[in-house]
Amino acid sequence: MTDIRNSGAESGFPDGTAKRQPYVELRHINKSFGEFKASDDVSFTVEKGSLVGLLGPSGSGKTTILRILAGLETADSGEIYIDGKLVNSIPASKRGIGFVFQSYALFRYMTVFDNIAFGLRTKKVPRSEIVEKVNGLIELVGLAGLNGRYPNQLSGGQRQRVAFARALATEPSLLLLDEPFAAIDAKVRKELRAWLKELIQRVGITSIFVTHDQSEAIEVADQIIITNHGHIERSGSPIEIYSNPESSFVTKFIGQPTVIENPGAFKGFSGIGNAGATAVLRPEFISVSRLSEPFRYEITAETGIVENSFFRGGDFELRVRVNDQVLTVNRPITEERILPGEKVRIFIRSLYLLDGDKAVTVLNDSLTGNDSICI
Ligand SMILES: Nc1ncnc2c1ncn2[C@@H]1O[C@H](COP(=O)(O)OP(=O)(O)O)[C@@H](O)[C@H]1O
Ligand SMILES: [Mg+2]
Repeated sequence: MTDIRNSGAESGFPDGTAKRQPYVELRHINKSFGEFKASDDVSFTVEKGSLVGLLGPSGSGKTTILRILAGLETADSGEIYIDGKLVNSIPASKRGIGFVFQSYALFRYMTVFDNIAFGLRTKKVPRSEIVEKVNGLIELVGLAGLNGRYPNQLSGGQRQRVAFARALATEPSLLLLDEPFAAIDAKVRKELRAWLKELIQRVGITSIFVTHDQSEAIEVADQIIITNHGHIERSGSPIEIYSNPESSFVTKFIGQPTVIENPGAFKGFSGIGNAGATAVLRPEFISVSRLSEPFRYEITAETGIVENSFFRGGDFELRVRVNDQVLTVNRPITEERILPGEKVRIFIRSLYLLDGDKAVTVLNDSLTGNDSICI
């Protein structure tokens, strides 16, 4: 994650080189609820000004991490540092953290203005300052003119904007958002994602948001941290994680995976051999064509029968039975339509071969030169 706003911020080295200190650091955090281990040796760092997505299946421990960081939950062991300071024994209210929850958690009997002003009033900020600040925030989150509305007079997206403004009002140095878009319908959710990313960048506040929705994390985050059964499975930029998932778990979690058995039985992958092997395919690794269409790598292509076709807007998602397994592949709407029942050619360019905890990319023989007909 590079962020020019912070480059060289923590120099202090005699030779003038800048050593970046993480803004947030969790070291070996463990937390159990009875027998259940919700956080299992969790360590990660977050750089100042970045927007980090904590992504994982439901129950994998994301909220627990956020709550420990915020001071709403106490870790059994491990250290939490914010801005270089150990904050384990600092109460939630003194950690300088803003929190946005999934359910808007607005005060129902307070107007938009009063909801946003709440934290400032408890801090005894002078009235004129509150008015100026709250109006500025209302403007910032795009709710100008709605100061006097009550939460039930707002749409879901507008309520979440209020929650966001309220979290920013006390100028926290760290913003935590737990599934902030989960309760909002799909179209607005997409708009809010882009809005939130742009706004967080503009305000420059270090933020961590939790989601179980990979497309949300991929679109919004600078860095993704993947949780699995309470531990950190992987972290990296969205592109790194998507294009090189590395572990079996991430390979089966990210993208649109189809798990197949015995991949060595597919033409072009005879080198895999092992009959007990398992692999993961993504639609973008596969092309489908009509048998009448010319094809370059005929010898390492399969034939299959189209079982289903789903219209997805820009393309059709086809389910094609090959070697007694069903593969998912996209056919652009601009190509000639293929209907269920048709016998088609399937070419698998690559797959992820799962080997214990690891996933390794294997290319089709035609693309590696292992195939004698390869041009
Ligand atoms: N306060 C609690 N008491 C008991 N069990 C809890 C508590 N909070 C979380 N858990 C357990 O920890 C697991 C992980 O929870 P959570 O961090 O909320 O996961 P996520 O946010 O990834 O869905 C949950 O499945 C739940 O069983
Ligand atoms: Mg959660």
